[in-house]
Amino acid sequence: MGRRHLGPEDIVRYEEDGPKVVLLDQRRLPDDVVELECRTVGDLVTAIDELAIRGAPAIGIAAAYGLALAAEHGEDLDAATAALAATRPTAVNLAWALGQMRDEPTPARARALHEDEVGRCRAMAAHAAELFGPSTRALTHCNAGGLATGGYGSAVGALRTAWELGLLERVWVDETRPLLQGSRLTAWELEAAGVPYAVIADSAAAALMASGEVDCVVTGADRIAANGDTANKIGTYSLAVLAAHHGLPLYVVAPTSTVDLATATGAEIPIEERAGSEITARFAARNPAFDVTPAGLIAAIVTELGVQRAPYAQSLAALA
Ligand code: MRU
Repeated sequence: MGRRHLGPEDIVRYEEDGPKVVLLDQRRLPDDVVELECRTVGDLVTAIDELAIRGAPAIGIAAAYGLALAAEHGEDLDAATAALAATRPTAVNLAWALGQMRDEPTPARARALHEDEVGRCRAMAAHAAELFGPSTRALTHCNAGGLATGGYGSAVGALRTAWELGLLERVWVDETRPLLQGSRLTAWELEAAGVPYAVIADSAAAALMASGEVDCVVTGADRIAANGDTANKIGTYSLAVLAAHHGLPLYVVAPTSTVDLATATGAEIPIEERAGSEITARFAARNPAFDVTPAGLIAAIVTELGVQRAPYAQSLAALA
């Protein structure tokens, strides 16, 4: 596969021939652009576990295709649902997508869900761009691009749209320790989109804010609780505290499939703990993959339905 703009089906798709779920293997990016074929639900569970596909909406879409695969094989769908749902506990899109597939576990249903998620990204990007002033220098964390959403992107989609509207000067891309989704994936996507960017060490954000080189922080989300508390990649909370200290807005851009009104506050969001070996192969380590940013530190939550402001308990409930 050559270097070009990725279409949704390049990121994840279902192929009747096999049948199989085919994904762009995000572990290998940016050096190798190679696909991974998942012929069983077990293959897909491993792929999601190991972050061959990652990002809340994208793993929901992959799980939807996985359920279609299970149905095609005549497997026990409850067992397949449970196995897929258990892979990554923080991203609510996974449970949401599996719920959407329950009554019709077909490739057509999964493809429609995929198309809808990409459509939501384009709509939310247009809303989010309204928040950008001229010559905005935005800082983003992790990867909330097309790779993470099955196409176009949420936070990165907003940055792409802002760039196309002439509102964006540059993007500071947090490296995003420990698995480098920023420097491997977001930089790769922004480069392809022709958006000016520079990768920074996570620990450089404070100094750039202090020197007046950041106008806003824009991130995606893995789960947004009913009160607006938002789980996202570890380090988002630190950025939110820094942004508040420097008087900068932090915008969360995510589809309504990430809003979980059944979870009252961030305290109830399960936080995935990953192997310490992702941080160090030699020493003891603790590796929470996500953190929760309190709603009070979030200037706006942008979904495909528009820009929501505090109090989020009211504005998010109104989305339903
Ligand atoms: O561990 P990852 O790479 O799946 O974490 C992804 C993130 O934290 C993203 O910011 C989030 O899923 C939003 S993706 C549109």
